[in-house]
Amino acid sequence: MIFMDPIEFIQKSASSIKNTMLKLKLKYNPFSEKPIRGNTKFFVGRVSELREIGEILGSAMHGSVANAAIVGTKGIGKSSMLNIIYYATKKQGHWVVELTASQVTPRQFLIQLLYNILTENIISMCGTIKTEYLEYSPKILEMYKMLNNYGDKVPIHYPRERIERDLQYLIDEVKDPDKLCIVLIDEADQFAKKSCLSLLQFFHSFLYEEGILTFMAGSPTLMDNLTRISPPIKDRIPKIINMPPLSVEESYDLIKRRLEDAHTEGAEEFEPFTEEAIDKIVEECDGIPRKIIMTCSESISIAIKKNLTKIDEKIVTEAIHTLGISVGHQILNHLTPAQSEIVKAMAKLGGKATVTQLSEYLKKSPGTIGTHLSDICEMGYIYKEREGNNVYYILSRELREVLLKGD
Ligand SMILES: Nc1ncnc2c1ncn2[C@@H]1O[C@H](COP(=O)(O)OP(=O)(O)OP(=O)(O)O)[C@@H](O)[C@H]1O
Ligand SMILES: [Mg+2]
Repeated sequence: MIFMDPIEFIQKSASSIKNTMLKLKLKYNPFSEKPIRGNTKFFVGRVSELREIGEILGSAMHGSVANAAIVGTKGIGKSSMLNIIYYATKKQGHWVVELTASQVTPRQFLIQLLYNILTENIISMCGTIKTEYLEYSPKILEMYKMLNNYGDKVPIHYPRERIERDLQYLIDEVKDPDKLCIVLIDEADQFAKKSCLSLLQFFHSFLYEEGILTFMAGSPTLMDNLTRISPPIKDRIPKIINMPPLSVEESYDLIKRRLEDAHTEGAEEFEPFTEEAIDKIVEECDGIPRKIIMTCSESISIAIKKNLTKIDEKIVTEAIHTLGISVGHQILNHLTPAQSEIVKAMAKLGGKATVTQLSEYLKKSPGTIGTHLSDICEMGYIYKEREGNNVYYILSRELREVLLKGD
């Protein structure tokens, strides 16, 4: 064993990565996923969706509010779209709040909303009220005080009626009537649970308020899921913006722009990728931006590990394989032991099974199995399909890859 100072060792490894990176003609890995909040330098395509959003906004500003759902598969760019709306509308002086849906009661939701309106629009970073709202200070400060420490604990002496009144006051009195209050809700599928019924019912009135425009982002089945829990919600969200995959040109453009930013001087367009490697990435990733980014990133990591100067098709294939496996393994790690027992049993039964089959196989009550199945289903790791009188649960592609290909 050679003695090596651990501090020196870390420094050496760090600078050797830097050097291998430079061999690839990159200053950094432009595909390591980091939020690029407000940075639209890397944003490609989406012209018709942006136009539609612009139209929705324009109509809302002229008194005709139509709330919208932004829907699409995982990693297609829904959160990024909400982020763009956030910055675009903020620039126009509207109030904007960003929320992530979670299993909350209407009261908790209202608290979040009120708190975010205050901290994102009325109170500046240093805790003072913005000058244009100074005349309303006493009341605003009173609300803020009620909500202070929010995050640690839910304020108990702030009843829902009062929160509603305060919210109304902010929107009717404090907000410039020419401006909107825009509410952006990400991961809105979370609301499609029975436990969120009262929240959705509350939404029916809330989504009808003038001066409030809501954008919800979620899966392609978002509206179906919400309507199943609470039918009237459909009328409250009349616009659906469907996010299709990026076109082939847009996919190339996405890769090119990120590489350009990281290139050292004299690097060619797609370096360190070969032309075939890029073609393969675009072909395999189906226009899904996250897939493209992760495949590129993984390919670069492999190239660094192997100390290469070029990334060819073979490296890309390896990257896709690694990612494919790791997604499935990540899911397995994420499941509880009971859930993991069930998906493994599903694999044993051919990747597809009914509650009865599983309950016989595992010798557990159908009730218990059913509860676990619907939890796993909600996380999107298995699907439900009806065949005649039977309801089958089916493993997702990612799980099938790890569980059925017997590695
Ligand atoms: N139009 C685009 N141009 C360039 N990059 C994009 C575009 N849309 C999304 N991306 C990138 O793709 C990745 C995934 O996007 P995002 O997180 O917005 O997807 P999502 O649909 O919200 O995913 P999820 O279903 O997991 O919530 C991000 O790294 C984002 O920067
Ligand atoms: Mg998202």
